[in-house]
Amino acid sequence: MKLNKQDILKALETISAPGEGKNMVESGAVTNVVTFADEVIVDITISNPTLQARKKTEVEIMKTIHEKVHQKAQVKVNLKVDAPTTTPTNEIKGKPIPGIQNIVAVASGKGGVGKSTVTANLAVTLAKMGFKVGILDADIYGPSIPIMFDMEMERPLAVTIEGKSKMKPVENYGVKVLSIGFFTKPDQAVVWRGPMAAKALNQMIFDAHWGALDFMLIDLPPGTGDIHLSIMQSLPITGAVIVSTPQNVALADAKKGVAMFQQESINVPVLGIIENMAYFTPNELPDNKYYIFGKQGAKNLAEDLVVPFLGELPLVQSIREAGDVGRPAALQTAGPLEQAFEKLTQNVVQEVVKRNDDLPPTEAIKITTMAGCSAVKK
Ligand SMILES: Nc1ncnc2c1ncn2[C@@H]1O[C@H](COP(=O)(O)OP(=O)(O)OP(=O)(O)O)[C@@H](O)[C@H]1O
Ligand SMILES: [Mg+2]
Repeated sequence: MKLNKQDILKALETISAPGEGKNMVESGAVTNVVTFADEVIVDITISNPTLQARKKTEVEIMKTIHEKVHQKAQVKVNLKVDAPTTTPTNEIKGKPIPGIQNIVAVASGKGGVGKSTVTANLAVTLAKMGFKVGILDADIYGPSIPIMFDMEMERPLAVTIEGKSKMKPVENYGVKVLSIGFFTKPDQAVVWRGPMAAKALNQMIFDAHWGALDFMLIDLPPGTGDIHLSIMQSLPITGAVIVSTPQNVALADAKKGVAMFQQESINVPVLGIIENMAYFTPNELPDNKYYIFGKQGAKNLAEDLVVPFLGELPLVQSIREAGDVGRPAALQTAGPLEQAFEKLTQNVVQEVVKRNDDLPPTEAIKITTMAGCSAVKK
């Protein structure tokens, strides 16, 4: 049997590309077809990264080729996930950040609600989905990402890129990390003023060799202080994700967080709210849900503020333990936790896609004084 490319393409033209009203070949999803005797290799690029979508596409291609071309064709499908953006121009003071497509800030008003845990698990889930991911740990008060990624003892190496010395992010579980924690001693309390922190952060962005990234997640410190302002002055943030527990005090602060991003002078789109520690289910009573911090508080807040609700995460001992031993819980390859993180991550990606479709790239706020002490609307 000898397969030929034209027959394969004709068969693939009968498969519709999701949501486009076009077929797979017309939409550009099929990027290459190679035939060799009874073998065919089909290269596909899709923007929906869920495992389910990938499997479905793969199965559909195989089935169609078997039905329409040859029953015994040996089909190999190479799937590539496309970054969800068509607006890659992130700029700071006219300087592009080479290769970084989407910058997502993870924030909360209140401390200890799970920003870092959510950041770490979103990052490994995105990496599992095939995206190139980096985390910038900007928590100058308590950088916890190095612990959560088991890289507390690591330090970024220097590399020379085009004659310039750059920091190379430390990598684990497919995620590149730079943290304020790499530059301070573990027991040192770091209380930096905004401008100093801004300078350190600028170095971690512009004097670092991140390479190409689909997502850079920024783990912010708690609150709505001047460090947040400094970060938003330095970076064109694609959008912000707000984490809150359902508890009233956390919600009140989450509201302030949302308001900060939506302020006219800042104007960073809020991608949505995540409810963390939504409920607890004891092992011995698997059908019971205990709403320790209150029920659906963050979900209701999202409705009130008319921002998307991105989903909930239960309070689970293994999430805490996984963070402490430096192996984020989302690395698990089966079970309800992996699914919960996958769903949450899909929702975040979806909101990024929508945001990039609807709005122009965010511009970094123009800085009026040297180290970024005050911001004005551009
Ligand atoms: N869903 C969860 N289930 C169990 N434990 C959790 C969960 N989310 C977070 N934790 C635990 O709660 C504590 C606080 O979480 P984390 O450090 O992520 O919060 P944070 O908002 O980043 O805090 P900070 O404001 O200090 O930066 C950690 O010990 C973490 O392991
Ligand atoms: Mg934190």
